[in-house]
Amino acid sequence: MWTCWWLWPLVAVCTADQFLDQAKRIMQTTPVIDGHNDLPWQLLLRFNNELRQKNANLNTLTGTHTNIPKLRAGFVGGQFWSAYTPCDTQNKDAVKRTLEQIDVIHRMCQMYPETFQCVTTSQGIREAFRAGKVASLIGVEGGHSIDSSLGVLRALYQLGMRYLTLTHSCNTPWADNWLVDTGDHDAQHSGLSDDFGKSVVREMNRLGVIIDLAHVSVATMKAALNQSQAPVIFSHSSAFALCKHWRNVPDDVLQLVKRTGSLVMVNFYNDYVACKREANLSQVADHLDHIKKVAGAGAVGFGGDFD
Ligand SMILES: *[C@@H]1O[C@H](CO)[C@@H](O)[C@H](O)[C@H]1NC(C)=O
Ligand SMILES: *[C@@H]1O[C@H](CO)[C@@H](O)[C@H](O)[C@H]1NC(C)=O
Ligand SMILES: [Zn+2]
Repeated sequence: MWTCWWLWPLVAVCTADQFLDQAKRIMQTTPVIDGHNDLPWQLLLRFNNELRQKNANLNTLTGTHTNIPKLRAGFVGGQFWSAYTPCDTQNKDAVKRTLEQIDVIHRMCQMYPETFQCVTTSQGIREAFRAGKVASLIGVEGGHSIDSSLGVLRALYQLGMRYLTLTHSCNTPWADNWLVDTGDHDAQHSGLSDDFGKSVVREMNRLGVIIDLAHVSVATMKAALNQSQAPVIFSHSSAFALCKHWRNVPDDVLQLVKRTGSLVMVNFYNDYVACKREANLSQVADHLDHIKKVAGAGAVGFGGDFD
């Protein structure tokens, strides 16, 4: 009796170590890329983007999910940093505020060149990874950041934006957000507007800015998946079948993800993983498994949504 008691815990421990070693080996040879991290937003809230403040040192930063030692411990090979400005800046200073968040990301790369390398291409990701740096990319979170201007869209591309989330938690004049599906907001466009919404998708395809469908309504997901010539991403969304939160991706949309070679980068936020205030890693793994089951292994990614 007592041998079993000892044996089974030992077996469990050995297996866990073996998987950890394997995971580390994979992460050292293939860059793990995370789709969404809001550290730049924390830098604004806590330090007014003043990176030289003593407490803003990213090597010793506390009180955030993210700092340099944690990125290293997690073998993060590539990170999309979020350039986010809240919906209440829509039609006000959204463009300026977005530029300021892009600026703080560039300054992170300049201040910590031994850790971050700002890149804009897949080739750049590979080079940064080979040099032992965290390849740093910019995602702009919310279509309100372009202020209904293709000129602003193109200028943000020049500044390094490589994905744009079509909405945050507000409708834009050309796309509906997820709060339409909860009934909190009125649908305005049955997804994407016929004129400007479709032009935005076309221009993003032409430039090479990834279309991000985290935060959009289901109708917008379907319209964008239909319109886009290129695969799209959900930079930080999980599976609706496992947690019926409208920030997640329903199964019929996962079918379209599969058909278009698109990618769902699973969110680690408790409310979206477990529909409660507490979640654990095995529940995150359940989301990865579900997306793999419905849309295939190629559709599975990470979009931790830390900070
Ligand atoms: C978009 O929708 C139209 C009409 O339903 C359909 O014929 C077309 O195949 C769809 N395109 C894609 C890429 O899904
Ligand atoms: C994670 O949470 C679920 C649901 O509460 C539970 O069934 C499961 O045992 C937990 N897993 C771990 C590893 O703690
Ligand atoms: Zn978000």
